[in-house]
Amino acid sequence: MKAAVVYSTLTGNTKKVAEAFASGLGSGAETFDVNAAPADISGYDLVVAGFWVDRGHPDQKSMDFMKRVEGKKVFSVFTLGAKPRSAHAFKCAYTSASFWGKGCEQIGTWHCQGAIDPKLIEQMRKMPAGGPHSATPETEARWAAAASHPDADDLAAAAEAAKAVRQIVTGEDPYAELKAKMAAQAKG
Ligand SMILES: Cc1cc2nc3c(=O)[nH]c(=O)nc-3n(C[C@H](O)[C@H](O)[C@H](O)COP(=O)(O)O)c2cc1C
Repeated sequence: MKAAVVYSTLTGNTKKVAEAFASGLGSGAETFDVNAAPADISGYDLVVAGFWVDRGHPDQKSMDFMKRVEGKKVFSVFTLGAKPRSAHAFKCAYTSASFWGKGCEQIGTWHCQGAIDPKLIEQMRKMPAGGPHSATPETEARWAAAASHPDADDLAAAAEAAKAVRQIVTGEDPYAELKAKMAAQAKG
């Protein structure tokens, strides 16, 4: 299976996650910075966009890339500052399908939290109280929780998810390994 994993990153979080995801996809997966994305992606069986969430949607470079992918099986991997099980994260996952070009089939999404740029946090701390991005005990706690991500567990989980994605794209039985183990156990 040939896969192109094209990531965009400002502070490195999404690069780490995209690389872990590509390692899980296994041989045939190539990783590209979005600034060096292949001009011709027609030869790939799967195209993965690795984006960071920018004001509720994929960052601009990722949106530009996704738009030019047409008629492919695609997957979105992203990092965001919000809690991974928040409604915000769910909306980012749901809407990601709409940024791809014509005829794409998004087979899934995967995401985790990513540390927020400390410079951005400093700016938000200076914002007037009561605004949507101003510092409160709750936002401070969320920023602190994001600061350690992506961590080793996130990267391992991204690679595991990618193994399942490979099986889906290549039509392998995702439970083949488990079935073989159970059959061996039944034999004694
Ligand atoms: C300008 C800007 C806007 C952001 N907007 C959001 C947002 O709307 N929702 C969110 O959860 N995180 C948001 N974030 C946090 C980033 O998505 C998050 O820290 C991400 O992991 C950064 O990835 P990177 O290290 O690959 O650049 C924003 C960060 C920046 C710098």
